Amino acid sequence: MATPTAADTRTEAAEQIQTALDELTLVEKVRLLTGASTWSLHAIDRIGLTPVTLSDGPIGVRGVSDDERPSVQLPAPSATAATWDVDLLARLGRLIAGEARRKGVDVVLAPVVNLQRTPAGGRHFECLAEDPHLTAELAASFVSALQDAGVAASVKHFVGNEQETERTTYVSRIDERTLREVYFAPFEAIVEAGAWSVMAAYNGVALDGVESTATAHGPLLNGVLKDEWGFDGVVVSDWLATKDTVASADGGLDLVMPGPGGPWDAALVAAVERGDVDESVIDDKVARILRLAHRVGAFASEPVEVATPEPDEPGVRDLVREATARSIVVLANDGLLPLDPRAVPRVALVGANAVEPFVQGGGSAFVRPPHVVSPLEGLSRVLPGAEIALVRGGVTERRAPVLPAVLVTTPRGARGILAEFLDVDGNVREERVILDPGEVWFPIEDAAVAAVRFTADVALHGDGTHVVEVGPVGAHELRIDGEVVSRSTHVVGSEVVLDSSYSDPATTETPVAVIGEGSVRVTLDAQVVDADAFGRFVRVHLRYRAPGASVDDELVEAEDAARAADVAIVVVGTNPETESEGWDRPSLALPGRQDELVRRVVAANPRTVVVVNAGAPVILPWLDEVPAALWWWLPGQEAGDALADALVGAIEPSGRLPWTLPAAEADVPVPNGLPRDGYVDYAEGLDVGHRGWDRLDRTPAREFGFGLGYAQWRYDRLELEAGRTRPAGTPADSGEGTGTWNEADEAIARVTLTNTSDRTGREVVQIYLSADGSDPLRPLRWLAGFAVVDVAAGSTATVEIPLRRRRFEVWSTDTSSWTLPAGPYVVHAGRSSRDLPLAATHIIH
Ligand code: BGC
Repeated sequence: MATPTAADTRTEAAEQIQTALDELTLVEKVRLLTGASTWSLHAIDRIGLTPVTLSDGPIGVRGVSDDERPSVQLPAPSATAATWDVDLLARLGRLIAGEARRKGVDVVLAPVVNLQRTPAGGRHFECLAEDPHLTAELAASFVSALQDAGVAASVKHFVGNEQETERTTYVSRIDERTLREVYFAPFEAIVEAGAWSVMAAYNGVALDGVESTATAHGPLLNGVLKDEWGFDGVVVSDWLATKDTVASADGGLDLVMPGPGGPWDAALVAAVERGDVDESVIDDKVARILRLAHRVGAFASEPVEVATPEPDEPGVRDLVREATARSIVVLANDGLLPLDPRAVPRVALVGANAVEPFVQGGGSAFVRPPHVVSPLEGLSRVLPGAEIALVRGGVTERRAPVLPAVLVTTPRGARGILAEFLDVDGNVREERVILDPGEVWFPIEDAAVAAVRFTADVALHGDGTHVVEVGPVGAHELRIDGEVVSRSTHVVGSEVVLDSSYSDPATTETPVAVIGEGSVRVTLDAQVVDADAFGRFVRVHLRYRAPGASVDDELVEAEDAARAADVAIVVVGTNPETESEGWDRPSLALPGRQDELVRRVVAANPRTVVVVNAGAPVILPWLDEVPAALWWWLPGQEAGDALADALVGAIEPSGRLPWTLPAAEADVPVPNGLPRDGYVDYAEGLDVGHRGWDRLDRTPAREFGFGLGYAQWRYDRLELEAGRTRPAGTPADSGEGTGTWNEADEAIARVTLTNTSDRTGREVVQIYLSADGSDPLRPLRWLAGFAVVDVAAGSTATVEIPLRRRRFEVWSTDTSSWTLPAGPYVVHAGRSSRDLPLAATHIIH
């Protein structure tokens, strides 16, 4: 008997879905359309449906709320994008599929394919790139690999979700052509590649006179996504994003998350019974959910078997380390890099981020890794026997470090903080001792508990001014030694989860002068936050700064260490206060006095490498004055090993910037994208990212696509072959989706280049197009293709880069279709968006 084909399986699944639909009552069907909990969907034994579980991505798979097991922690998505390596993204997709299965997860809420429209965007690190084509190619590769392993991707956030300020209410105003050519492009490519789920964003979208929340936007969800692109998967709402019943149900949303509760359930059943929503609309959603369940092995199917290694197993660690080292971008190098391990017996390792690297941005993407390899550990491995002096060079965070457990006792003298659970009348219903006093969060199951009273005696050892900082979330009263120092009656709810203010609550600082030994009693009454489907919890940050060296003292210490060393490595960067979901960055400057630190260390030791530990662009005013600089991203669990590999060249840091690095804040084409009167206007149109810099003729510090690597390159030749069709054996049409995406390529660019250095190197060959100028809205130059190539020292290689027809097409708002404008196109090839030594002309008649 022949093995069943994909089409047979599809037909079989379709039949089983139909049978299930016939069996389910309206109430059962509607129940399936809202989550059963924060992270899972309802099961129905009768039809063989087991629960489908969802979890964030994209940095790793966190798992459901009570999963304490560590998760693999990749470098930030922008870092993976800096490899420009679609095969690597596929390997990471397979790794994440294994992680999902290990953690019992069927749907990974990733990737984020919104674009880095402004460097100030809070989730910049979570996006891949500022360029639609680069984003599309990399994300499609990741999604295909993930789903080939039977785990669904939920591609997010559809659409126009490029910043965080007023994130649940603003309306993005984007003209149709810009949507089509720029912000839709990654979604369209991934739907074409077969995405099983898409997440509708929090924001609203105003398009062609239809203004609606993204979760209820009929023209977007039903019109474009489902009808035009043929998307047959599930549109899930962003968490708590759905605001209405009928409009979202009719608009094309399939699944409200989280649950239970929310605007569908009984209200939707009633709407169907009233005739306001047709039952066929419900059936379509149920069919989509059952199809998703079938795809992930939860309905009439088994999950695909995948390897599920632990996140600290050697194979996993090697892959993450390779990806992280490959992502690192060489921004400057006068020959100091790669370091010769024999020539640096004494190293000064300097910077707050050297002591504590910032490995992941904040928000829903946050995962707990099995370990984080520090720069000191990594360097000690590649420089055995070297003397490495680690000095901080000043703090960069505004807030004090978390309160150490050893300083805290309860009023009865036990280690920890006393937590008394109070009802509305102030009666104690339960007592607990909290042993870990830093960033306190715990769920409250007892519905009668309205507040928690924390009491802690904090020991203050030594002369000087000690600072105690307390950051409660919501209504509270804070007393220090009995005196009220902060009080708020403002009761908060789920909005603090959505704006992430609970991950960085405002604190009250209390300085306490001590001679010898002292102590203070901290008493805090904090409200229980009722955050709807995110549950009820209490949240407070307790922080403490001991008297000690000032930043001035530490800067001098850093200079001294640098002076005494053969090489200084200064790690500067952002920190958890800077980059997170929930808020945008008010400034692109490095926090604290880090610019001064760099300048003073370089003055003390001219053999200095600066390492930038940040996800999104920061202004580096000294960049052209330092001998060498690397962009290290938010590097994830293998941080220090990857950095060490890059510094000595064990793995070439072959990253290329997936965004533009500004030299000055005033130059940035879209400085912040903040909503005005509730609207975010995408006024720059098609000129996103590097295209905007070209249009305004501004010179950034380092342009899109920039990265020196360690080899040198000569671009020899560019040849074009027009109208070639896809080579035999590669699928011209996967049978899924519609449109022109998989049609014959318009041209093939063949680039010949030589590695003129004495070491094997990796180059990212980039192809850009420009048109004849007859269409003033077209960008001056746009990315059309790229390829990664490894070439041995002194060798020549030729790479073939297909140029898809879509790269030449424009969206006609007159005909509502893609058109291929005639004319000469200049095809540019080179190393970055502004280093394009080769050109050829392609004519379209
Ligand atoms: C974020 C999503 C995330 C979801 C679940 C939302 O606040 O915008 O990206 O997947 O929470 O954690």
